[in-house]
Amino acid sequence: MAVKLVAKPGEVEFPKGMEGVIANESRKSYVNGLEGKLYYEGITIQDLAEHSSFEETFFLLLYDRLPTADELAILKHRMTQYRNLPNEVYELIESVSAGYLAKPMSVMRTAVSMTALFDEAAEEETEAAFEREAIKITSRMATIVAAINRVREGKPIVQPRADLSHAANFLYMMRGEEPDEFDTKVMDVILVLHADHGCNASTFATLVVTSTLADMYSAVVGGISALKGPLHGGANQRVMKMLNEIGSADNVENWLADAVAKKKKIMGFGHRVYKAMDPRAVILHGYAKEVTKRAGTEDWLVMAEKIEKFMIEKLGQKGIWPNVDFFSGVVMSSMGIDDELFTPIFAVSRAAGWTAHALEQRKDNRIYRPRFVYVGPATQEYVPIDER
Ligand SMILES: CC(C)(COP(=O)(O)OP(=O)(O)OC[C@H]1O[C@@H](n2cnc3c(N)ncnc32)[C@H](O)[C@@H]1OP(=O)(O)O)[C@@H](O)C(=O)NCCC(=O)NCCS
Repeated sequence: MAVKLVAKPGEVEFPKGMEGVIANESRKSYVNGLEGKLYYEGITIQDLAEHSSFEETFFLLLYDRLPTADELAILKHRMTQYRNLPNEVYELIESVSAGYLAKPMSVMRTAVSMTALFDEAAEEETEAAFEREAIKITSRMATIVAAINRVREGKPIVQPRADLSHAANFLYMMRGEEPDEFDTKVMDVILVLHADHGCNASTFATLVVTSTLADMYSAVVGGISALKGPLHGGANQRVMKMLNEIGSADNVENWLADAVAKKKKIMGFGHRVYKAMDPRAVILHGYAKEVTKRAGTEDWLVMAEKIEKFMIEKLGQKGIWPNVDFFSGVVMSSMGIDDELFTPIFAVSRAAGWTAHALEQRKDNRIYRPRFVYVGPATQEYVPIDER
C-alpha cells in the first residue's frame, strides 16, 4: 500500500487513534458495537455472567474452549498455588500504600513489575513457561490489589486462602472476612464482564510489548499502564466522583445540561466501538438494583438511572450510550469498595484477557511496527547551543 509518509500537517488523512484499523486476527472476543453485543469465543457475555465463573472464563480465553470439570479443577488448583506474593512485594506495598501515600494503580504497576524480579521463571522462553506465567500473574493480581486495600485502610494484610474461588478469596483478602454467596457472585460477575474486550487500548499495549518477545510480566505492566488513564479503566472512579458532585437526583438535569452545553465528557458514557447500549452495563444495572437495596444506597441508583435516561435522550442518537464503567462504580461503592480500587479491580479481571491475547500473539508473532506521517521540517541546519 503506497502511503505518503512525508507531508504537511493535515495533508494526509488517517484514522486518528487508529479507529477502525485492523491490528491482527484474534479469536478471543468479539464486540458487535452496533447491536450492543459482546461474545467471548462466541459465547454471549450474558450467558457467561449468568452461568460461568472467572476461572472458567479465564480457561475459555486461554485455551479457546470451555473446560471439562477436571480441567477447570486443575486450573483452579494452579491459580490457588500462585496466590501468595514474595515477602519483598508485601513489604513494598506496606511501605508505599500506608497513609494513602501512593495511588493503588501505581502501586499495582510497580508490585507486578517487582514480582517478576522474584520469579525465576519470569524470563523463561518456552510455551509452557508463558502459559504458567499467564496463570501466575492473573492469580497474583488479586492478592496485590487486596493487600494494597488492606494497607490503605491501616489493617493487616490477609493471606490468601486456597479453599475459596478467585472472587471469594479476593473479597476475603480485601475485607478480612469471608463474603456471602451474593457478594461473591457479584464480584465474580464483575471479573467475568471485564475479562476481555477486543482490541482495547490496554490489550493492544500488552500485545505491542509481547510482539517484541518481551516477557509476560512486562506485557502486563504495559497493559496496567494503559488501563490507568481516565479514558480507559479510570472512568469508573470518575463516575462516582460525578455522582458525588451532582449530589442528588434533583440536581441531575441542571448539572448534566450544563456539562453537555459545555461539551464536557460525561464519564461512563461513549465508546469507540459501541454505538448502542454496552451489554455489560445492562448486566451491572441489574445487579446494582439488588446491591444498592442491600447497602441502603438506592439514592445512587436513582441518580444513575436519571443520568442514564437524560444522556440517552440527549446523546443516544449520536451513539453515546452508557458503558461498563457507568454502573460498575455504583455496584462497587455499594459493596464498600473504595473508588481508588475500581481501576485496579478492572485490571485483576483484564489480566485474563491480556495474558490470553499475549499467548495468542506468540503463536504467530510479528512485531508491531506502524509508521508516522512525518510532518516536521524537511531539513534544517544544526545550530550550536551557544548560537541559539
Ligand atoms: C470512550 C471514549 C474515550 C471514546 O472516545 P472516541 O472514540 O475517541 O470518541 P470521541 O472522544 O472522538 O467522541 C466522539 C464524539 O462524541 C462525544 N462524546 C464521546 N464521549 C462522550 C461522553 N462521555 N460525554 C459526552 N460526549 C461524548 C465527543 O465529544 C465527540 O463529539 P463531537 O463529534 O461533537 O466532537 C469517549 O467516549 C470518552 O471519553 N468517554 C468517557 C470516558 C469513559 O467512560 N471511558 C470508558 C470507556 S469503556
